[in-house]
Amino acid sequence: MDADKAYTEAIRHGRYSEQIKGLRCKYDHVRTQFEDFITKYYLRPYLEEIVKTKVDKSGESLRFYDLGCGTGDGYELLSKMARGTRLSQFDTRLVKDDMMDQYKGIDLSVSLLKEAENLFGDYEHVNFCKGDFSNGLPLDEGEESYDLYFTSYGTLSHCTNEELEKLFVDMGKHGHNGSLILADFIGRYSYEWQNLWTQDPEEVSYIDYVINYLYPEEERDNVELSSFPMRLMTPAEVFKVLESAARKAGVELKVLRFFDRSLFVGRHIETGTYNGNPQNLRLMVSSLFERGLRTYFPDLKVNYKPREGFDWQNESLQRLADSWNALVDYTMVLMEHYDSNEDLLPYPPPTDVKPLEKAYRVMRQTLEGSKGLYGDIRADLIEAQLGYAIRSLEMNLQQGHGLGHGLVGIIQVVK
Ligand SMILES: C[S@@+](CC[C@H](N)C(=O)[O-])C[C@H]1O[C@@H](n2cnc3c(N)ncnc32)[C@H](O)[C@@H]1O
Repeated sequence: MDADKAYTEAIRHGRYSEQIKGLRCKYDHVRTQFEDFITKYYLRPYLEEIVKTKVDKSGESLRFYDLGCGTGDGYELLSKMARGTRLSQFDTRLVKDDMMDQYKGIDLSVSLLKEAENLFGDYEHVNFCKGDFSNGLPLDEGEESYDLYFTSYGTLSHCTNEELEKLFVDMGKHGHNGSLILADFIGRYSYEWQNLWTQDPEEVSYIDYVINYLYPEEERDNVELSSFPMRLMTPAEVFKVLESAARKAGVELKVLRFFDRSLFVGRHIETGTYNGNPQNLRLMVSSLFERGLRTYFPDLKVNYKPREGFDWQNESLQRLADSWNALVDYTMVLMEHYDSNEDLLPYPPPTDVKPLEKAYRVMRQTLEGSKGLYGDIRADLIEAQLGYAIRSLEMNLQQGHGLGHGLVGIIQVVK
């Protein structure tokens, strides 16, 4: 119920539901260009396989179940997923409306469901209803299985271990052979809550989560907001629940992969609510994607402060921070040389970090190729490319160990 109150406050405040691409709101550029993209990127190959066998070969249509659907963002995400990237192609959607038999979204919050209904309720195959997944998977009598049981943005962290296990048992039983479960949690070792890191996961299981990040810094401490518990997760903890659930359901719940999402751009990187080293990194990265707006690059660099006793976490995060900062530095150098009208822009420093090597190459190519183009090429082209390059570093230097704001597992039901 606390969670319901907290989401309702966020809606009342307005910023949680605005469909604007502003810089500090629910749909900021990090959400659309980083987070939604990363989820789609990892889910796509598995969904593509289902589309091939079920739609292309057998002429059947797809069924999606979105648990904790909120305002129906899952429908938007799934229906806008791209199949290929051929430039000459116009409509690249993987799942077109006529391929969908049903998208069902459930949520506890009536206010969010009302908004979902306003946005997507007109589609015949879309259906929203109030439902609670804390007592297992809400189902109607004889309800057919789904191809994908979908969750997003940490939704499954609302569950206790027992609730989660029951939910996995139900999805395992209800799903058919090949059904997918997208299990989205809050990562245990996100830098955003470094103060909560513990060696023994049993010591701290939950974060007392507060949605204060939508407020400007100066207002943040003066508003009274509800908080609610969110389960912090590592892959090992998810595996443990899955193993037990699979045994009880009599199926295999096969983990296809885990990925970390938002290692330095999670919502709480800026608040300092659970970390003594807040930085406006999300805002800065969002600004890279804002057309017509130039970003102050020195503020884009990560000032990673290690926490003693957490060696593997520090190593991984420092490695990403170093590559990220080196790329920002190199881009600044490129821009200076560009301004001096030099014929040849400087080559990047040597590195054995492959994703960084590629990111360097892309930035150099972007500046080389941008000479003589129209518009504010820094704001609209170079910065956007730097945003994508940083995203690619994040994606290629993560290993799905629970170091991001989000820890996501893609799980398959095998029968
Ligand atoms: C992190 S939000 C995600 C919302 C949305 N899917 C999105 O992409 O923005 C989690 C959602 O789960 C809902 N929720 C939390 N506990 C729930 C429960 N036990 N049953 C159903 N919905 C729940 C909340 O109301 C909230 O809308």
